Parts: sequence; C-alpha cells; structure tokens
Amino acid sequence: MAASKKIVARAEKLRELIAYHNDKYFGDDDPEISDAEFDEFVRELRTIEAEHPELVPAESLLDVPGAPTTTTFAPVVHRLPMTSLDNAMDHDELRAWGDRVTKGLGGEPTRFVCELKIDGLALSLRYENGRLVQAATRGDGKVGEDVTANVRTIGAIPQHLDSTPAVLEVRGEVYMSKAAFERLREAKMQENESRVAEGRKPQPVPANPRNAGAGSLRQKDAAVTATRELSVWTYQLGEVNGVPEFVAHHETLDYLRALGFPVNPEVRVVDSLVGVIEFCAHWQEHRNDLPYIIDGVVVKVDDLAQRERLGYTSKAPRWAIAVKFPPEERTTLLRDIKVSIGRTGRATPFAVLEPVVVAGSTVSMSTLHNREQVQRKDVRPGDTVVVRKAGDVIPEVVGPVLALRPANSKPWKFPTKCPCALKSTLVQVGDEADTRCVEPECPHQRDQKIIHFTARGGMDIEGFGEKTVYKLSDAGVIEDVGDIYSLSAEALLGQGFGEGQTANLLKSIDASRGRPLEKLLVALGIKHLGPAAAESLARRFGSLDLVAQASVEELSAIDGVGDVIAESVASWFADVRHRAVIGKLRKGGVRFDHVTLVDAPQTLAGRTIVVTGTLVAFGREQAERAIKDRGGKSAGSVSAKTYALVVGDEPGSAKVKKATELNVPRIDEAAFVRLLDTGELP
Ligand code: IVH
Repeated sequence: MAASKKIVARAEKLRELIAYHNDKYFGDDDPEISDAEFDEFVRELRTIEAEHPELVPAESLLDVPGAPTTTTFAPVVHRLPMTSLDNAMDHDELRAWGDRVTKGLGGEPTRFVCELKIDGLALSLRYENGRLVQAATRGDGKVGEDVTANVRTIGAIPQHLDSTPAVLEVRGEVYMSKAAFERLREAKMQENESRVAEGRKPQPVPANPRNAGAGSLRQKDAAVTATRELSVWTYQLGEVNGVPEFVAHHETLDYLRALGFPVNPEVRVVDSLVGVIEFCAHWQEHRNDLPYIIDGVVVKVDDLAQRERLGYTSKAPRWAIAVKFPPEERTTLLRDIKVSIGRTGRATPFAVLEPVVVAGSTVSMSTLHNREQVQRKDVRPGDTVVVRKAGDVIPEVVGPVLALRPANSKPWKFPTKCPCALKSTLVQVGDEADTRCVEPECPHQRDQKIIHFTARGGMDIEGFGEKTVYKLSDAGVIEDVGDIYSLSAEALLGQGFGEGQTANLLKSIDASRGRPLEKLLVALGIKHLGPAAAESLARRFGSLDLVAQASVEELSAIDGVGDVIAESVASWFADVRHRAVIGKLRKGGVRFDHVTLVDAPQTLAGRTIVVTGTLVAFGREQAERAIKDRGGKSAGSVSAKTYALVVGDEPGSAKVKKATELNVPRIDEAAFVRLLDTGELP
C-alpha cells in the first residue's frame, strides 16, 4: 500500500527528531528526552519503514544508531564492530525473540545468560601481550574515539595482566555510581554558584549518571577524568588471539573475572525463557537497590557455537536481546507551588507534591528551577502532574495531565513576598533573571547560610543537617554559624535531642573544628567565593586572619581570584556582623590555619622541581608543600632530571649555572604559580 501524505510527513518528522536527539545525546552528552522516549521514536520509524520500504532513504538513520557528530578524539576503527542490541519492550517481544532463536537453531534447547543492562557508556579495551594498549568508545559501532589516556586513570581497569594472550579485547560499560554522581553534581552546582555570581556563564550540570559518566570519560584532559569516580563492568570479549578455547559465554565471564576485570556478580545462567522472565521481574522490582543505574536486562545465548550459527542482522546480534525496563513515571497531585529562599536570597519555585514513590524513593518535593520553567510547563496547583526521576535519581515534574485539570484552575503567579516571617518584598534586580529577597535579617537566608556551613564541601558536620538547623534556629538556640561551637549538651538535650544524638552531634562538631582553611572559607558562604578560589586563598595566606587582613589589591593579585571575588572577600571581612561571627568561631576553638591541599590536581606528577632564592608568596616550606601536593618532587640540587628551576630573589648562583649548563628551564615566581596550576612551562 502506498504511504499516505500523513505517513510520509510523520516519517520525515521522526527522522528529524531522531537526528536532533541523537545529536543532543552523543554530541552534547545532554539529552532532552529519556531513552524510552527516544526508543519510541525509533520504533515508530522502524515500523513505518518496514511497512513502506519505498520510504527508506539510501542511508537510513536507523542503520547507524547514535552516530557521533563531533569528535575531539582520534578515531579508532573497531576491528570487530561494536554492534548495538535489539530491544524487547515487554514479555511478548521477549518471547518473539526466543521463538526466533529456537527457530534459528532448528528447535535445539538453548541456555541463556542473563546480565544486568548497565546504563553507561560502552567501552572497548585492547590488551596486547598483557598490556593495555588502547581504549575506545563505541561511537557509531564502526568507528569510536580513542580515550586511552582517560581510561588509564580509571583504577578498576587493569593496565597489565598476569596472563599475556597476544590480543585480548574486552568490552564493557563505564558508568558512574549514583553516589559519585550526586557528589559530582553537588560540586558542579557549587562551582556554578560562584561562576554566576562572577557574571560568568554557568557550566552544564550533568542531568544523570550516564551523562556524567560519558562527559567524564570524554574529557580533553585526562587529569579531569582522574578526578571523576568512574567504574566499569566488563561483559563481553571482542577480538582475541591466544586465549583459551571457550565453549560458553559464562566461561568468558569467569575468565575475565580471573584476570582481574570487574564483572558484575548479578549474572544468571538459565535454561529457558521462564528463568529469563523471572530474572527480569526480580530486577525490575529491585533495580533501585543497586548503587548504579540499570535500564534493563541483557539476555545472551550461552553456547558460543549456537551464537555463531545465529549470527547477526545488519545492526545487532541475533543471539542477544536487551529487555528494557519502562522508565518509572507516576502521576500525583501538585498540592502547591512554593518558593524557597537560598542563602543569597534567591527565590526558587518548587513543587509540593502528594507523596508518591518513584524509582525506589518517596518524592514529595521537586524543584521547578525558575519562573520561566513554571511558565513553560504551565503546571498549576491542583493539577495532576507526571513525576519521574531524571536518570532515575533526581525527581522532576514532567508536566500536567491536562485532561485532569480542574475547571477553575489559573496559571501560577510568582509570589511578591518572601515566605519568611518578615514578609519582605521579593525583587528582581536589574535585568537579572532571578528574583531575590534582599532583607539582610531574613530568617530563611540565615538558616540556609547555616546549612551551607555545616554541609559537605564546607565544615561537613555529620548529623547537622537541615532538620537540626531548623530546629535549633527556630528555637533561637543558634543565630549564626558561630553559635554552633558554643552548643552545650544541655542546650541540645533541652531541644529534645536524645543522649546518643547529642553526643554524636558534639563529636562531629568537635571534628569540624580542625577542617582545612579552604573548607572553612567555603563554609562561610562569602559571595562569589567558590572552592577553587578558596583553595588559592588558603594556599597563599595559610590562615583566616591573614585572609581577613588582606587588601583588595593583595587578594586580586592571586591567580584564580579576580577583582569581583577580591572585593567580595574584603567587604565580607569588613562587615562588623561577620567579624562577630569570626570572633565566635575563634572562641569556639575552630582552627583558622589548617592548610592541607593534598587533593590538589596532580599537575606535577613524577616531575622534580628545584626552588632557589626567596619567593614573595611562598615560604620555603610552602613552596615544597605546593610541589608535593601536586605529585611532584622538590629537590635541593639541579640535575639533568630537574623539570624546572624556580628562581626567586637572591638565587643560589651554582644552581642557576648548573641549570643553564643542563638546559633546565629557569622560571620566575609567576611562571611557578602557573606551573603549579597547569603543569605547563612558559
Ligand atoms: S552486550 C553484541 N551486555 O547496552 C553485544 N551490553 O543497548 C554487545 N550494555 O551497546 C553488548 N549492559 O553499551 C551487553 N551486560 C551487558 C550490557 C550491555 C549494558 C549496553 C552496551 C550496548 C547497549 C545496547
């Protein structure tokens, strides 16, 4: 039957959508729609193309699922293509696949290996004579990207093997655990806060662990990948030469495990589809118990000879299928839209929901980000809304179910008053997108400042979370962060904290007294001062008192501390209210001079630096410490191995002479600071 105009138009539209979202996913690592929605487009187009072959273009989009559009890595041609998998969206489709397998094998019985379908990024690892020689992404399946340098920073991936087959290609999935993702996201958001405050563009915050993992793996600078907590599960052999003869897939998994590769423990060999369905049902129910995200189950024929007979279609093996789990979406009542006030006074709208369990946890609130998002989604109190978890982690209101909208519903209006007791007017300053409460005494801002202080990234006071802050602040027991350090057991017991909880709180408060200076600086919540600039300050001044005394000129002279931050820091310390807080912290025994930058980027790994003469911003010990913190070695004399000689005031002439003879670069203090930051010489 010839395709109607409507179908032709629909196919075109679907192609457009698929190309667009492919680009978002693979080009930008920033998808706008869920995998399930994307798969739905693909399936619809596939169905149309199957029914109307005349509509299939010479090169169908569907032949090359997920072709990358931009690449900054060297291409790697896969010697054996990294094919994708066909999907089964329900048990019927799974059974249909099972029937095709049985038919393909002439009715022979088949055993299946069930594995979890890890929601990450496919990776090929090539070992030659036991050495990791290349790591590549899947790309379009034929050509991927060379990410060897980045992959070498992933601790779980062996660099050398005890056994040394001539060629061993191992395939698997790189992923970021849910916990690691939360940590990265928190750090990124904090970083963005300072960027925005400085008038710089915020950087995209990864929306889910898969994007975070993909983004981390595809960093230009392997040192950045090294800071990301990536993990891997290996699940398949690629090209091999000189490995034992295997009969079944599960043996190859045992082999990988024995070689030291991470192989997921949740693997089951079953001898019928009934077992497969059981495995799927179990993991669909328990997927949220895992510390990483799965989006289904991969079922593979175990017998390798049978696999060979089944072979491949043009896109995927016939011997395997991905059983996809539906994304968990729930509908619930949007009880209200409220705004929360942040520590800088910014008003953020959020949804108050009738509690509903989505992807393993109860959701009762969800951020709506800003005024514009509420308008765009047009969600209104009283609406029934669709809720899901972006990447199974962050709750999100997708939109209203219009059919269930109450007749009298009206669009939501941004409130004009702060929700705090002072009810000050919310203002939109200049052409800023944000709406703010500018009342300095606003109790909501005050509480958020305290929460920021006690949170991870700041003083990290375990057990001192939001609830504790609200309780103590509402009761007037603490008015600012300085009061935390004079809290007594009596005061806490008096507020209804139990004996054990009181003891624990006091213990964690005490532990926080020794936090490093850079954490203390971040915890104070000085506008524009993010973790990176705080580190620069801590490194250069070594004590809070010295930071407090520094002039704007001195502050802004520091690399990584621009004029905006310098002004902000200086005026923060000039404020008498803040001086009073500092006084309380001092009295409460908080250390002001604890500098440990052991987690500095390893810009000098394996390099030897010699310093001669006096530097302005570094004492001798500080300079040595700065070098060591970055993985370098600080030596007393110049040799051919010296990477650079840092020449300060009144340098030792023997060292300078030796460096000249040996052609060792001589650099001044400014270049030294850059070297510490970037590892690069002028
Ligand atoms: S096997 C030819 N096993 O899912 C077989 N893939 O949708 C190749 N994936 O590209 C893949 N977990 O990135 C296999 N246990 C698993 C997997 C898995 C996740 C990914 C893989 C593949 C995609 C297909």
